[in-house]
Amino acid sequence: MATSKHIPDSDIKDIGLAEAGRKRIEWAEREMPVLRMIRERFEKERPLEGRKLIACCHITTETANLARALKAGGVNAVLIASNPLSTQDDVAAALVAEYGIPVFAIKGESTETYNRHVRIALDHDPNLIIDDGSDVVATLVKERADLIKDLIGTTEETTTGLVRLRALEKTGRMTWPAIAVNDAQTKHFFDNRYGTGQSTLDGVVRATNILLAGRTLVVVGYGWCGKGVAMRGRGMGANVVVCEINPIRAIEAVMDGFRVMPIEQAAPIGDIFITVTGNRHVIDGKHFAAMHDGAIVANSGHFDVELNLVSLAEMSSVRNQLRPFVEEYNMRESGKRVIVLGEGRLINLAAAEGHPASVMDMSFANQALSCEYLVRNHGKLAPGLHLLPEEVDTEIASLKLEAMGIRIDTPTPEQIEYANSWEVGT
Ligand SMILES: NC(=O)c1ccc[n+]([C@@H]2O[C@H](COP(=O)([O-])OP(=O)(O)OC[C@H]3O[C@@H](n4cnc5c(N)ncnc54)[C@H](O)[C@@H]3O)[C@@H](O)[C@H]2O)c1
Repeated sequence: MATSKHIPDSDIKDIGLAEAGRKRIEWAEREMPVLRMIRERFEKERPLEGRKLIACCHITTETANLARALKAGGVNAVLIASNPLSTQDDVAAALVAEYGIPVFAIKGESTETYNRHVRIALDHDPNLIIDDGSDVVATLVKERADLIKDLIGTTEETTTGLVRLRALEKTGRMTWPAIAVNDAQTKHFFDNRYGTGQSTLDGVVRATNILLAGRTLVVVGYGWCGKGVAMRGRGMGANVVVCEINPIRAIEAVMDGFRVMPIEQAAPIGDIFITVTGNRHVIDGKHFAAMHDGAIVANSGHFDVELNLVSLAEMSSVRNQLRPFVEEYNMRESGKRVIVLGEGRLINLAAAEGHPASVMDMSFANQALSCEYLVRNHGKLAPGLHLLPEEVDTEIASLKLEAMGIRIDTPTPEQIEYANSWEVGT
């Protein structure tokens, strides 16, 4: 293990895990050809030279490859976790010992430690912030507004973070440009749908080892993530029920072939429940009370507020940890048991490894190119939320296709002319 390299100040679980982490990072890199191309270009062009950056991300093998690309671009980066349960401790160790990147993240850290790490990172006085859920930006505005003057811009990875940033923008307090990475097509079409779809069920299965075939799986929220979870659940033989509040999304679920009903109706019939709404208490106390004995509940939305676990705990006399990430609540009055996975935190990162590298290749290509875009356009972008230019989205998709060895058609001059004219009809 190359521990002789300079080890920066960090707060991680065990530096001795570094070699195992490096091997896993290198394994993930094989599935990240677009990010690798960006890293190789960054090594030559150094577009982020001398800038300081905080990356608040799930500390996974894919994030490590993003950090390598950013470092190759010349940035001085500090990494912190974007969720207390999503850190892979071997990856954190490898980042510090093998790649010389400071990390403040430990799997299972308390909320206090998590918040302390956010504050330590802000002491880095960043020019760029990669946020995932907007905890760093919220802390910056609330507690360290003095640092905003040095900010070139920020990026936001996930749907929930963008909900918060849109609310902040409305208050007029967002005085810097921010890139809505989640809204790039090469991000949410693939990461939220196929990534969350596969890895959420992976998390449920790794935690419980249950058979999905023949079970009633209730998916709460039929957005990008919910579509993926429902699709993959059906693929594994589950009988999928969808709950929604948005009539358009509900019709989509119906026409995709799923049963749609309110959560009150789904609660007594579900065997497994997965929330992916970004909303609060979508499974509330009365829904837990209506579930059958042994029902399993997990969340894959960004924050752990989707399940009202406080209410469940109040109704319960005893809580037993049955296996890692599997906790049973015994309800006092009914004697029924509800099984909660991963403390209600993102189950794909708590009990599995998060999204497969192949989708994160595109998400993190967007992140790396967003940082470059912010720096190259420093002083030219208006404050507020921006999308990366459409050409960048298309370029990422083209590079991904090329790496997959898939060729597509190009329109003929006649077709381009036809597509741009109004005169010609039947
Ligand atoms: N687990 C992961 O790795 C991962 C990856 C990407 C996104 N996320 C998170 O997952 C959540 C969902 O993201 P998305 O991109 O699918 O968002 P989205 O906005 O596309 O979909 C959310 C859906 O939930 C529905 N909803 C809201 N409140 C509801 C309620 N009370 N009952 C039923 N449905 C309700 C909305 O109408 C919407 O259709 C967000 O918190 C996002 O940040 C997690």
